[in-house]
Amino acid sequence: MQITIETKPYAELETDALVSYIFEEPDPVQGQLDEIDRAGGGLLRKLATSGEVSGKMLEFTLIHSPAGLKAGRLLLVGAGKREQFNGSTVRKVAGAALRYLKARSVKKFAFLTREKDLTEDFAQGLAEAFVVSNFESDKYKTDKKTDKATERVLIAGYGAAQKAAAEKGLGKGRIIGEAQNFTRDLVNEPANKLTPKILAEKAEAMAKEAGLTVEILDEKKIADLKMGALISVAQGGPEPPRVMVLTYTPANLKPDQPVIGLVGKAVTFDTGGISIKPADGMEKMKYDMAGGGAMLGVMRAIAALKPKVKVICVVPSTENMVGGKAQKPGDIQTAMSGKTIEVLNTDAEGRLILADGITYAKQLGVTHIIDAATLTGAIVVALSSINAGVFGSDQAFTDKLLASAKAAGEKMWQMPVDEDYREFIKGSVGDIQNIGSGKGGGAITGAMFIKEFTGDTPWIHLDIAGTAWNDDQKPWLAKGATGSAVRTLVHLLMTY
Ligand code: BES
Ligand code: MN
Ligand code: ZN
Repeated sequence: MQITIETKPYAELETDALVSYIFEEPDPVQGQLDEIDRAGGGLLRKLATSGEVSGKMLEFTLIHSPAGLKAGRLLLVGAGKREQFNGSTVRKVAGAALRYLKARSVKKFAFLTREKDLTEDFAQGLAEAFVVSNFESDKYKTDKKTDKATERVLIAGYGAAQKAAAEKGLGKGRIIGEAQNFTRDLVNEPANKLTPKILAEKAEAMAKEAGLTVEILDEKKIADLKMGALISVAQGGPEPPRVMVLTYTPANLKPDQPVIGLVGKAVTFDTGGISIKPADGMEKMKYDMAGGGAMLGVMRAIAALKPKVKVICVVPSTENMVGGKAQKPGDIQTAMSGKTIEVLNTDAEGRLILADGITYAKQLGVTHIIDAATLTGAIVVALSSINAGVFGSDQAFTDKLLASAKAAGEKMWQMPVDEDYREFIKGSVGDIQNIGSGKGGGAITGAMFIKEFTGDTPWIHLDIAGTAWNDDQKPWLAKGATGSAVRTLVHLLMTY
């Protein structure tokens, strides 16, 4: 898909459709829309007065052969209340416009940016939205919607003076959107097409192409490093585990600068192990590598965007299977850090592999840790699929992440991890146990377990179990993998 900034007056654009967003306010036909309306003989105001056009979020009005415009159609997309228009809503509006037109075989359109929004960030958000909304989860269909993809988008409204800034935003947005789609592609893969070994191969190929340093730890190296928690999960099945290590080093790195560690859970299939999951819906557990997938997408984006901070990404990967050699509830495992873990539930495996991933990242010298994981069903109970759960040991660091989430248009909500929850995971036989003792707070218990391995290193945990997968398609997004957390983390790294 081609996306360009078009500075020609919108009335002159010979495109299949001109798209404008319209706010829900007493008079929605304002500014440019008023101009369009006057040139077109007052149809918009008539529709607004009759109530047919109200500006309500994602209300669509399609007008064919609009008078006064050279475009074949005028599409109005409701953007809701002007004061609630933000990074999240603009991406919904732009993405939904693309998918609305695509469904009607309109493959070329111009999107008119309104008067007050002519910034670099806005162009970036639009580019992200177009790239992300044009993605379809149909790799294994013989009749692909991908073949019907949008071909050409003009971002209009910007004048010659704002063109350079808009193009800069567009360039960044394209990179970030494509990175998010890279993640979605990985996460959508079924477990027979994406084992830990295959994921590592894909990560290695991506890193080499992007110009990142990469090392893949195989089962032998993992055993040498005594990653007992990761090994305990992997031993249940025939596929060997892998740990991917990707490093981005900025030019002119000065000593004593922070080094950010990104650790992502990549369980390529989670049966639950001996504490087996019910059959109903188990097929979805192919997305249990979405945390690792997100981190790989982030690395892909920053290789191109080149932030000023060093980043080390560690992705431990395994299946969680049932088998004769599988670990059993009650087993004691020794993590790489030396801590002993009582595995009371083999289905709480994500925290086990993250424990060793974090210990390894610390050994590589990271000063800050962010982990992302489809860790708990409990976070879905708490926040549904709307917000990702955020847990942090350092409020200033956590605030930075929450600000980035806002800017990137991803919803994230902070949850507590204070010491009062520590007793939930106190072990009776080992140092700690991998599930809480039935006092609720399942997502917090998972976070508390991970926290044990971070020590004094400032740490953020993102539980994306609810947000990484879209059961039904949204007007702005195909069903399946969402690429949750990619944009937020890229934004955060770019602030250094
Ligand atoms: N991968 C699951 C969490 C999950 C649940 C992800 C739903 C996506 C959707 C994780 O490994 C798991 O099984 N967690 C258990 C923990 C429990 C045994 C303490 C859970 O949430 O039930
Ligand atoms: Mn599990
Ligand atoms: Zn899992």
